[in-house]
Amino acid sequence: MLTIGIESSCDETSAAVVENGEKVLSCEVSSSVHLHSKFGGIIPEIASRYHLEYISEVTQSALKKAGLTFRDVDLVAATCRPGLLGSLLVGLSFAKGLSFALKKPFIGVNHIEAHLFSPFLGKGFVFPFIGLVVSGGHTSLARVNDFDKIRFFGHTRDDAAGEAFDKVAKILELGYPGGPVIDRLARTVTDSPFKFNCARLPGSFDFSYSGIKTDVLYTVQKLGRITKKTKAQIAHSFQTAAIDILVKKSILACKKFRIETLSAGGGVACNSYLRKRLEEESRKENIRFVYAEPKLCLDNAAMIAALGTSLYKKGFVSPYTLSAEA
Ligand code: KG4
Ligand code: ZN
Repeated sequence: MLTIGIESSCDETSAAVVENGEKVLSCEVSSSVHLHSKFGGIIPEIASRYHLEYISEVTQSALKKAGLTFRDVDLVAATCRPGLLGSLLVGLSFAKGLSFALKKPFIGVNHIEAHLFSPFLGKGFVFPFIGLVVSGGHTSLARVNDFDKIRFFGHTRDDAAGEAFDKVAKILELGYPGGPVIDRLARTVTDSPFKFNCARLPGSFDFSYSGIKTDVLYTVQKLGRITKKTKAQIAHSFQTAAIDILVKKSILACKKFRIETLSAGGGVACNSYLRKRLEEESRKENIRFVYAEPKLCLDNAAMIAALGTSLYKKGFVSPYTLSAEA
């Protein structure tokens, strides 16, 4: 079964072809991030116009890379929520049009749920598992028993993990997106005189990042002009605290629910310190830690096509009246 996936929830225009819900035949991504970086964050109007301009080209390129044509497609899957409304609408409308023209079924997919499954692509899905989704818009922990049996039990109460990386990078004048820069800069020092902490929210699997972000802001304001080394030390301390809380709660969730598999997806799952710490802690607790290659952690249509196929195989389809939800 060949599924074409369309993803347009934020600043990545992506199309992918996935075979039988597991094998990625192609995954094309065209990002408008370069157009947003000077603003220090995503400008929704620019993102949706970019999707409109490139969606057709990206889709044709995905088919070509897979060595296929539109006639080979069996199912059309697209992100329907959550995301930027204007951006979602472009991909969703394009996918519905494609499905109608090809006379093939259409299915709408939840972007966050798709991030949960992307680490398993090409490796085989294992149930049950605890899934950590850490991206620019979400920080969530879920217990996953099947493709349609997902229970989210941990959320961010304010900023998402990626958002906190982006805001701290902005405070340190490191550019956008902040996650990769902080990751790189933090690796240039081994220790830091700064000590930042994340709210621990005991007894809950929720997260909070607004306090640590404000703490970094006040520290930087107090210091005045800062050297590159000081920036690296601040980045190091922030990253350690921001990641350690994710690791702690993810492992705790596996132990509490007696689940032996842990997955991490979303842009922040590219973070080198997060991967290292989750690997170390999982090994200690005999937990199998599954993570995706960076391309599949970031927003991509392969995960949309994959989850769309698995849901379709379980009997789900979406009507053309399905609307986008922010
Ligand atoms: O999943 P994603 O591509 O888009 C959303 O759905 O939001 O994630 C983008 C986020 C950005 O906030 C970016 O700063 C963060 O992921 N990110 C990272 C790293 N690479 C990307 N955060 C920390 N460390 C990284 N290496
Ligand atoms: Zn995402």
